Amino acid sequence: MNWHERYTQQARWTRDLRAYLFDKAGLKSASRVLEVGCGTGAILSEMDSPASVHGLDLSRAALAETRLHAPHVSLVHADALSIPYADYTFDITFCHFLLLWVRDPLTAVREMARVTRPQGHVLALAEPDYRQRVDKPASLAPLGKWQADALRAQGADPSFGARLAETFARAGIEVIETGTIQRSGSEASREEREKEWAVLEADLAASVPGEDIHKMKLLDEKAWERGERVLFVPTYFVWGRV
Ligand SMILES: C[S@@+](CC[C@H](N)C(=O)[O-])C[C@H]1O[C@@H](n2cnc3c(N)ncnc32)[C@H](O)[C@@H]1O
Repeated sequence: MNWHERYTQQARWTRDLRAYLFDKAGLKSASRVLEVGCGTGAILSEMDSPASVHGLDLSRAALAETRLHAPHVSLVHADALSIPYADYTFDITFCHFLLLWVRDPLTAVREMARVTRPQGHVLALAEPDYRQRVDKPASLAPLGKWQADALRAQGADPSFGARLAETFARAGIEVIETGTIQRSGSEASREEREKEWAVLEADLAASVPGEDIHKMKLLDEKAWERGERVLFVPTYFVWGRV
């Protein structure tokens, strides 16, 4: 799997939302900004800001890629559960497809709030809820369950998105806005759908027989061709103030 390609694809889904929220959070006048769980730098490489930009991740390999894709960013190898910055260091602290992977998301969000200055902004830009995934025609319904099971087996919480805003509130962050991005499969090109399938096939390889996956893939392709396909994964965001 080419992770940077995958993260860049996911970054496209949230481009408009990021432009809106970063503007509201005052990115243009921010001095210091942090992405927690920055991965390969897909988001950081798109950030247009005069601020001092920082990225943190648990994976050294991912950070090495970020160094290539976002050379202007200061990077630190660390755990979101114990962010190695002093209180009130950043004007904006954010994450993108991170919290579903974190063992204790409340502690991670508390840490994000701690390193953000009073009146500063904390954003979680994309956290899916696969339990609420919608697949039509009904014959494609097993896909959602398979994917949620596979993510759970990899250590993720596939339905964390639905608890995102309440997690911010529990961390003492004032929630200003929350919602879902309307990530509908019907907007995806054939090429995008192929990429989605490559991810799904990799995720399911250990848990679902190849024959069953292949059958679903054919049903999926036919449904798209006939204009019958509905695919919706609610992906939540939240914007809060410390
Ligand atoms: C799905 S990737 C998203 C990367 C990036 N935010 C993006 O959207 O392109 C999740 C990233 O979170 C990192 N991660 C997972 N748990 C972490 C933790 N406890 N502390 C720091 N990073 C973590 C992983 O190493 C991975 O790079």
